[in-house]
Amino acid sequence: MEIIIQPTPPEGSIIAARIIAKLVRTKPDCVLGLATGSTPIPTYRELVRMHREEGLDFSKVTTFNLDEYVGLPPEHPQSYHAFMDEHFFAHVNVPRANIHIPDGMAADIPAECARYEAAIRAAGGIDLQILGIGTDGHIGFNEPTSSLASRTRIKTLTEQTRADNARFFEGDLSKVPFHCITMGVGTIMESRQVLMLAFGANKADAIAEAVEGPITSMNPATVLQMHPVAKCIIDEPAAGALKKTVYYRWVFDHKPDWQRW
Ligand code: F6R
Repeated sequence: MEIIIQPTPPEGSIIAARIIAKLVRTKPDCVLGLATGSTPIPTYRELVRMHREEGLDFSKVTTFNLDEYVGLPPEHPQSYHAFMDEHFFAHVNVPRANIHIPDGMAADIPAECARYEAAIRAAGGIDLQILGIGTDGHIGFNEPTSSLASRTRIKTLTEQTRADNARFFEGDLSKVPFHCITMGVGTIMESRQVLMLAFGANKADAIAEAVEGPITSMNPATVLQMHPVAKCIIDEPAAGALKKTVYYRWVFDHKPDWQRW
C-alpha cells in the first residue's frame, strides 16, 4: 500500500482529486466508485472546482456508490442519494443515467444487491474506488468480522458506527438506521485501484491496523494490503499511530516524476 501523509485534510484532498482527475482525463469513460461521509467532501469540492475552472469533463464517467441506508428514500436529506447530489452530482456533468447508488427502499433487498453487482460487472468493473474508513476499520459498511470475500448485501451497523454517524442526523442516535446495503469487501477488492482517505486522530488506530497490522476481518480495511494498487492518503493526526512514517515520507519524497499526478 502506498501511504501519503499530508499536513492537513485540504492538502490530502487536493492530491486525491488530482489522482481521480488524471484517471478521468486519460480514460474519459472510466468507472468511479464513490464514498460518502465527511472525509471525501473536500475531494469532491476540488473536483467540482476542476470541472468549473479547468473543464474537467465527467460526461462519459459512470459512478457506483459504496452504500445506502435501508429505509431512507432518495429525497431523505440524510440518504446517500441526497448527500451525493449535494456534494458532487448537482455540480458536475455526470449523466444521471450513469449514476448508480443502491436502492435502500427496494422491496426485495437480495434482488437489489444482485442487480447492483450485475450493473458493476456490466459497466466493466470499477477503475478507481474512493474509500473512507470507519473508526472500527469498516470500508463501505463492511463492519468488523465481515467476510473478506463478501459481495453487495445488507449489513447491520454496529452501535459505534451508528453513534459516529449520529452527527449527520442532528445528533439523534434514534434516527440513524440500523441497516444498509453495502458493496462487499470482495466487490471493493475487484476495483482496479483503491484510494482510501482518512483524516483526524480518531482514525489513527484504524489506519495503523489497516496499514501495518495483520490482515483480519476484525478490521476489514486490512485486506487492502492484498490489493495491488492501493493508495492511502492521510493527514498527520490520522498517521499518529503508524510505525513506519519515516519510510512513507521517504518514498513520497523520492517518487519518480512519471508516477506523480
Ligand atoms: C461511506 C462509507 C463509510 C465511510 C466511513 C467514514 O460511503 O462507506 O465507510 O467512509 O464511515 O466516514 P467519515 O468520512 O464520515 O468519517
